[in-house]
Amino acid sequence: GGCAGRGQARLGSSGAAVQRAPRTAGAEEADAEVNIRKKTFAEVQTERLEQAERTILIKCPSKLNEKKLLQYLSSHGNIKSHFLFENRGIHALIEFSEKNSIASLQDAVGIPSAVEHHVVPFKSRLFTFMLKNPVSQAAEETPVHLSPQSHIPVKDLIQKLCHADSISSQMYILLNEYQLTEENIRLRFLACSLVRDFARAYFPDSVVRPFGSSVNTFGKLGCDVDMFLDFHDTQKRATKMKKGPFEMEYQMKRLPSERLANQKILSVIGDCLDNFGPGCVSVQKILNARCPLVKFSHQPTGFQCDLSVSNSIAIKSSELLYIYGCLDSRVRALVFSVRCWARVHGLTNSAPGNWITNFSLTMMVMFFLQKRSPPIIPTLDQLKVLADDKDMHVIGGYDCSFVSDLSKIKPTENTETLDVLLGEFFEYFGNFDFRKNSINLRKGKEVNKPESSPLYIWNPFEQDLNISKNVNQPQLEKFVAMARETAWILQKEDKTQRMINKEPWGLAALMIPFGKSNHNKMKNRVKGIGSETIRSLLDSLKLNSASSLQKAVEK
Ligand code: GTP
Ligand code: MG
Repeated sequence: GGCAGRGQARLGSSGAAVQRAPRTAGAEEADAEVNIRKKTFAEVQTERLEQAERTILIKCPSKLNEKKLLQYLSSHGNIKSHFLFENRGIHALIEFSEKNSIASLQDAVGIPSAVEHHVVPFKSRLFTFMLKNPVSQAAEETPVHLSPQSHIPVKDLIQKLCHADSISSQMYILLNEYQLTEENIRLRFLACSLVRDFARAYFPDSVVRPFGSSVNTFGKLGCDVDMFLDFHDTQKRATKMKKGPFEMEYQMKRLPSERLANQKILSVIGDCLDNFGPGCVSVQKILNARCPLVKFSHQPTGFQCDLSVSNSIAIKSSELLYIYGCLDSRVRALVFSVRCWARVHGLTNSAPGNWITNFSLTMMVMFFLQKRSPPIIPTLDQLKVLADDKDMHVIGGYDCSFVSDLSKIKPTENTETLDVLLGEFFEYFGNFDFRKNSINLRKGKEVNKPESSPLYIWNPFEQDLNISKNVNQPQLEKFVAMARETAWILQKEDKTQRMINKEPWGLAALMIPFGKSNHNKMKNRVKGIGSETIRSLLDSLKLNSASSLQKAVEK
């Protein structure tokens, strides 16, 4: 549904037809949903969370008769959809039509015998399916389709890219290979829903929602699941009760700060996951961070999860990116290429540090797209003008209002190809005056830096914060140097020659680390110098330089 996850769905429809739009096969997939009304971010979230509540996960024996499994489960209710995947053994995700089918199943299944281990009697929606008579039943094994939950390795991607006929189609191939699939999105929402089962034991109204790249249309297969505990319902009720001559409110524990309350809640939920959660391992409480969180690995779904407490601004950032990602198919294609490029060249890293984050990088792409002429995506101020009453949100004193209905946003008149946009992106940031200017998505303009951080990207909602404060000068310089080198490679690109030579070309050439010698070359490259002559001149100069000699001696 919605925008997120346009991956080819191979969901089996057992019994009732799975409700989904008809799909066209192939690379045009990206545009196949253009004519269907795009759902708002909130609609997608609500639908997916509800679907996850009707879903269970079953670990299956390696020799499986899929049809028999479904038959067995059908005695508890209609199965709306299902799929199988491999994650340290075969697993089946089953979506029932009705939630009460799960209760019926839970009543019927047994509890593991406590011979070797003692079990915590918490009944979840994770099950193990076993064959009573493995030998005879194994004979009934049928071939099953396993839906992939990870993307192909970069070297296989490069191979695929070489067969495309333009950089633009290379970028769509990368998008199709890396983006979250329908099945993977379902698993992500299921992981949140399973955590909610614990939170609900204490806070019956609470919801656990995914945010970040799982839902902002920029998620790549294998990325972490960012989730937060939302007590929104409780806040809503507080305003409702104010009518009439009387007032009633709950007696609640009072604490000196919201932060302390969040720390206490996360600590308890973290302990629950650690002590009672089937397959929740490596639970780590990081309560002293700027944003307190619990990290854990959820083995049944295979996800690394980050759980925090309701952060309305982060969800607004996710919604804003969702809107941008849905507006034009070029947006996601460009972001995936840039992110992949940054990863290959060591500009981003999964460990925290002074590198640019994927989040910052995505914002830089958005800013670049706002700056095109005509612009490909609107500024945040323009989205705010389109907002109606229900879109008005002020969170912690910050105005977070912007339109939620995608159909109100006029499509862009910009027709530039992705071939052009990719090159221009690197050209633009290769020459950006980072010393003087900052990146402001609300205005869609460079503005003077308010302070001296090397890279300053305004938090779109908390206007006094820089989302890339962590980036230091050397990392920024590395980014600029790589961007220049890349722009240069794309300019001199001779596709035909490269194809004849059987060399990776276009996007494929950018996905191979440039190598030490290239890195030295580009350090000296000045804007405007790019001809082969000067390049070789620089190379010969360098051969004579002291550092090269030193290296030659060391070898
Ligand atoms: P990947 O996980 O790298 O695919 O991308 P992500 O967008 O999910 O990033 P990450 O998991 O690091 O963070 C999750 C979300 O937290 C982001 O999407 C943002 O909404 C928010 N976030 C992350 N870093 C920052 C930051 O420095 N400032 C602000 N304001 N929000 C951030
Ligand atoms: Mg993330």
